[in-house]
Amino acid sequence: MSHNTFGYLFRVTTWGESHGPALGAVIDGCPPGLRFTLDDLQSFMDKRKPGQSRFVTQRREDDIVKVLSGVMPQDDGSMITTGTPVSLMIENTDQRSKDYGDIAKRYRPGHADFTYDVKYGIRDYRGGGRSSARETAARVAAGALARLVIPGVTIRGALVQIGKHKINRANWNWAQVEQNPFFAPDAEIVPVWEDYLDGIRKAGSSVGAVIEVVAEGVPAGIGAPVYGKLDQDIASLLMSINAVKGVEIGNGFGSAEITGEENADEMRIGPDGRPVFLSNNAGGILGGISTGEPIVARFAIKPTSSILTERRSIDADGQEVDVRTKGRHDPCVGIRAVPVGEAMLACAIADHYLRDRGQTGRLK
Ligand SMILES: Cc1cc2nc3c(=O)[nH]c(=O)nc-3n(C[C@H](O)[C@H](O)[C@H](O)COP(=O)(O)O)c2cc1C
Repeated sequence: MSHNTFGYLFRVTTWGESHGPALGAVIDGCPPGLRFTLDDLQSFMDKRKPGQSRFVTQRREDDIVKVLSGVMPQDDGSMITTGTPVSLMIENTDQRSKDYGDIAKRYRPGHADFTYDVKYGIRDYRGGGRSSARETAARVAAGALARLVIPGVTIRGALVQIGKHKINRANWNWAQVEQNPFFAPDAEIVPVWEDYLDGIRKAGSSVGAVIEVVAEGVPAGIGAPVYGKLDQDIASLLMSINAVKGVEIGNGFGSAEITGEENADEMRIGPDGRPVFLSNNAGGILGGISTGEPIVARFAIKPTSSILTERRSIDADGQEVDVRTKGRHDPCVGIRAVPVGEAMLACAIADHYLRDRGQTGRLK
């Protein structure tokens, strides 16, 4: 299996399967001199790890990151990157492979079982193997380092829709995001989502979601037209997340519904003599290059395909079968995808930040 690497200068390779002993990421091109602690890494891992509320899978993975290479430990307990490959490892501790015996030959509708078999002729069915979103733990670890590459950047994400229930954007409050099990920025939607997801969970069903990720403090001028546009690469990395079926930048598909007057972000000169945009429909990117405004992207996650309801499918022997997926699954994987989206946005921007530094030398 090839293509497990992304990025040009901040180059991330992830490895490992859901039910192997461990998985992880190797970051080649991580700049030297980035200081971090294991707690820094862990705080992002903890946002993605399972078992944190009744609305996510009850697997019990601690997702403790070990840093195997590429750093010099410091007396104060922190570590500093040395510029050599940084290798991050997360052990798998709560596999229950027997839960997956029934799907060794049967294809779960909506999952990658059929296509992996068609392509490779062999499939690690335990937990979905490489197609399992367990792999996204490695991305979150890499994303924690990517954030350090871009001075002064803040990268955050929030869940903005579950099923048909959308947040009220007028209530957006970033402080709320850390205070509910959904990463919701709108306190009023929380009881609505709780009731709705309780019903979905008890029915053994699942539902999709939309996540918004925002990067503030990204300097104007990064992005590499015409085939390395910043929006293109952000979309590609967000689309690479399991279960993602749509990505928008800024106004996204909404921009097709409005006029040129409404959509174009007008400009003025601010009090400090710098350009100011009067709106941010572009989501912080014009011509594939950052404007200095917040970079805003959204992605849609489909409903978890592993559900308790029996669905029609086929098996590897060409027989028609009915599949009911046992095991512990998220009723809405969109919740745990929030930190994954943040990580992929961080990696895309870090890579472009370094690329810009290499080409133009404008940035420190
Ligand atoms: C954080 C996260 C957790 C996931 N957990 C599950 C799961 O428990 N069961 C499942 O069927 N799919 C889960 N998925 C989605 C599958 O990994 C994904 O649907 C599958 O690999 C097929 O790929 P595709 O949906 O991108 O085509 C999860 C996705 C994410 C982002």
